[in-house]
This record gives sequence, structure tokens and C-alpha cells, in this order.
Amino acid sequence: MNPLVIALTKGRLQKKTVELFEKAGFDCAVFSDPGRKLVLEMPDAGAKVVLAKAADVVTYVDHGVCDIGVVGKDTILEAGRSLYEVMDLGFGKCRFALAVKEGEDFFAPGKYRRRVASKYPAVAARYFLEQRMDVEIIKIEGSVELAPLLGLADGIVDLVETGQTLRENGLVIARDILPVSARMVVNLASMKMRKQEILNLLDRLKGAMEG
Ligand code: PRP
Repeated sequence: MNPLVIALTKGRLQKKTVELFEKAGFDCAVFSDPGRKLVLEMPDAGAKVVLAKAADVVTYVDHGVCDIGVVGKDTILEAGRSLYEVMDLGFGKCRFALAVKEGEDFFAPGKYRRRVASKYPAVAARYFLEQRMDVEIIKIEGSVELAPLLGLADGIVDLVETGQTLRENGLVIARDILPVSARMVVNLASMKMRKQEILNLLDRLKGAMEG
């Protein structure tokens, strides 16, 4: 049988996911010094693991070249693809929030059309649609906190974890939008074709999370 292919988000989520696999009793020695290797074998899990950027994890799983993915809910929401979201892994916790410069009232009546900068334009657009507010969304690739400081936007929609980045840049939360954490996702066809193997793996991981 071919191994299951698991796409794992590189970086912070990678570390926590490997810890969970270890707790579930799988041999994770291959992760301790992967060098520049991007595909790592985990024979005792019947799997191989692909290390990828978050947005690419969703793309690989959606296209079925990976059966399973570990990725943040933020990326899943932004991508808007059809995947089974089978497990909240409980780590990588943060939240989406709308933040503004300290002392500013984003929701003050009678204001001109607001501009909001975000690395997550789809999430931001959906939020303001729900709020029935006509807002211009500006896509920024990194350090979105700069946008209001430079006068490009009235606010930002971004991830907040400790709040330190906002504090150090004179920004405050105007609204909490949505909690975020790492999720396990499964390709729709894989869930049908390889259901038992996937459920077995999920059971092992769930056991480790509860233990
Ligand atoms: C995220 C987010 C904020 C920061 C929030 O960026 O976009 O800038 O973390 O964390 P805090 O509330 O603990 O300060 P990240 O560090 O992931 O970098 P990125 O710009 O590469 O996405």
C-alpha cells in the first residue's frame, strides 16, 4: 500500500505537530535534522510527510496530491477550498481581529468609506460583508501593521496572538473577529478511498491529545 501523504506547514506548526506525533508513539527522529529535505518518510505511521508553506498545504490537499494536511484555520478560511476539516489540534491558537490606531473610532458614523489592509483579504471582505459595511480591502503581504501607521488604511484585519506587535506599534483591537488554531484537513477523495487508514491515524493522534 502506498504511504499516506501528509502536508505539514513548515515552522511553528511543524514543531507542535511533530511533538504530537511523538506523543502518539511514532518515530519522529527524521524531523530532528531534516536539512533541506522536503519529503520525510514515517514508515511506522504508514506515511510520508511533505513540508510546505501554509497556503501550499491547502493547495496540495485540495488537488489530492497530499491526502492529509496540517494547517491554520486562518489559511483554510482565506483559501476557501473544499476540504474535510477533521480535527482541531488545539495548538497554534490566535485570533483574527480588526485593529486601529489608538484613539481612533473605526465605526464612527458618517465617516468616508474605510480602507482596511490585510494579508487575509477574503477573510476581511467576508467579515465586513457580514457587518453590512462597504469597506475597501487592500492586500498587504507582510507586516500589515505598517499600513495604518503610514496612512494607507484606517485599520487592519490580522492575526493577534499575544498582542505585542499591536502594542509596540500603537495599535489597539477594535473588534475580535474569530478564533484560529491548527487543523487537520483531509482531501475529499482520500477520505473515501483510504478512510480506515486515515481514521486509524486520527484515533492515534486524538488519543495522544487526550492522554
Ligand atoms: C503574525 C501576525 C502579527 C503577529 C501577531 O505575524 O501577522 O503580525 O504575528 O502576533 P502577536 O500578537 O503575538 O504580536 P507572523 O509573526 O506570523 O509573521 P508574518 O508577517 O510572516 O505572517
